[in-house]
Formats: sequence, C-alpha cells, structure tokens
Amino acid sequence: MGGADRLRGARPVAPPPHPRQGVHPPYTAFARIYNRWCAELDPGRWGRYNVALARRHGFVGGRVLDLGCGTGLSTRPWARIAEAVTGVDRSTSMLRLARHLGGRPSNVRYLKADITAPGLLRGETFGVVLANFDVVNYQTRERSLLRLFRNARRLLTPAGCFLFDAVTEHAYRRLLNGVPVFQRLPGGAVLLEGRYRKRPGLWHGEITLLLAERDGHYRAAVERHDQRYYSPARLRTLLRAAGFALCHFYATPTFRPPGPRAERVTVVARP
Ligand SMILES: C[S@@+](CC[C@H](N)C(=O)[O-])C[C@H]1O[C@@H](n2cnc3c(N)ncnc32)[C@H](O)[C@@H]1O
Repeated sequence: MGGADRLRGARPVAPPPHPRQGVHPPYTAFARIYNRWCAELDPGRWGRYNVALARRHGFVGGRVLDLGCGTGLSTRPWARIAEAVTGVDRSTSMLRLARHLGGRPSNVRYLKADITAPGLLRGETFGVVLANFDVVNYQTRERSLLRLFRNARRLLTPAGCFLFDAVTEHAYRRLLNGVPVFQRLPGGAVLLEGRYRKRPGLWHGEITLLLAERDGHYRAAVERHDQRYYSPARLRTLLRAAGFALCHFYATPTFRPPGPRAERVTVVARP
C-alpha cells in the first residue's frame, strides 16, 4: 500500500454515500458525465446511422419522437432534418442537460414522462419513433416493454417506422460480465462492474462515479443499473403483440443482418 509519503499531494475524495442513503437511481449523478463517457462511442456516427436507416425505410421528413432521449445525444441529429423533434425521458438530471444543450430551439422539445405509461402523448403522431442506446433493455419487465412498444405503435403514422437498438446476449456474457471497466474522463472517472445471469437473462450493473467538484475535491456516487436481455425471437413476438407487422434486424452500426458476435442490434419495425 505504501506510506504517508504516497499520499502527499493526493486529493481528498468525498466518502461514498452513507449506506442508509443507498445506491442512487440510474441517470442521476451519471448525467453529469454521461456525454463525456459516450464521446468515445462517437454518438454523431450513431445519429447518422439511425437517420440513414430511417431513410432506407421510407422516412422523408415529418415529426420525430425520441423515447428515452437522455441528454439528447440521440435527439439532436434529427433537429435539422425533421419538422419537429420531441425527446421524452424520466430522468430530471438527463433532461436538464438536454435542455441546456438545446438543438434548434424552435423545433425541439423535451418532456419528462415514463415512456411505458399508457396514454403517453395521446393525440399526437410521428413519422419516426426512436428508442436508442439500451432504452429497451432498461425495461426489465416484459410487460413494461410491451407497453413501450404499444406506445410506439399508437404514436406512429401509418407509413412511419419505429427504430430501436438492443444489447445482444454475446455482449452481456462476454463484454459486460465480471470484468470491471475503468475510464478516466475529463471531470472525473467511471468504474463499471456488471454481472449477467443467463437465467433469467438479467444484467446488474454498478456504476461508481468520481466527479470533480469546483473546489478540487472529488464526489463519489454509486448508481445501480438493471437491464434485461431480449432475444430477437422475443422482440419479434412482443412487436407483433403491439401491432407491428414488419421488422428488420441489423448488426449496429451496419446494414447487415446480425451474426453471432454482434454486440448490438438495431431493429426497424413498421405497422
Ligand atoms: C443509456 S440512456 C440513452 C439516452 C439516449 N437515447 C442516448 O442515445 O444517449 C437510457 C435512457 O433511457 C431512460 N429511460 C429508461 N427507461 C425509461 C422509462 N421507462 N421512461 C423514461 N425514460 C426511461 C433513462 O432515464 C436514460 O436517460
């Protein structure tokens, strides 16, 4: 471990939350560093990919809805090409950042809501509905995912498309299982530790965040993230139950069908 000399010059870290405070809900503390954490994944490329896929499936303009929009990384690429864009998320912290970063203010709006709530945005319709970057996997109960799919179906125009991605079992088993991942970022650091249980297909992740404060100290916070793996067959069944007639699977971020080593699939579903 080393002696006190090892600690000279080290910065004090605020202690992790008191056990009684428990672990924070997902996307509270993480919001502050989320965009920097995503930067390595090149969200701009993901945005262009989604736009290209939607065009391939007939999108020519109109209104776009982003379910689980987070900080707006998946929402903003549509601002220039869509008539209007709506982002919906349940996390106040993520939405605060989305609103701060804007988009073309006249045609982007952000709303706080549960995207599985029946009656979401009742009376509105959209040419494209999106749910990007694990949003589907965060619905750990199948009936919640079915409600999300039903909302997407109800909110789509007859010629519209629903575009979402999902983590593959290969990624949960091989990449996100028992191997901690540490990333230093401007303004802090993230430690991600996850465990996947094949039966019942649940992934439990713990994200430890070190966030740099203005006074030079670091604040530590822990968030728990639960996800569920959905097989392509299960997704198809749920999509059909929600009223979708067609669905196409792609290995993200390509236009090819997913192979056994795909880490993520993107699905385009149509009524
Ligand atoms: C990994 S982030 C993805 C954010 C964004 N789509 C992107 O591509 O960066 C997942 C988001 O889904 C939101 N989310 C998950 N389940 C939700 C629900 N039932 N209702 C509203 N938001 C939800 C979370 O709050 C979080 O902001």
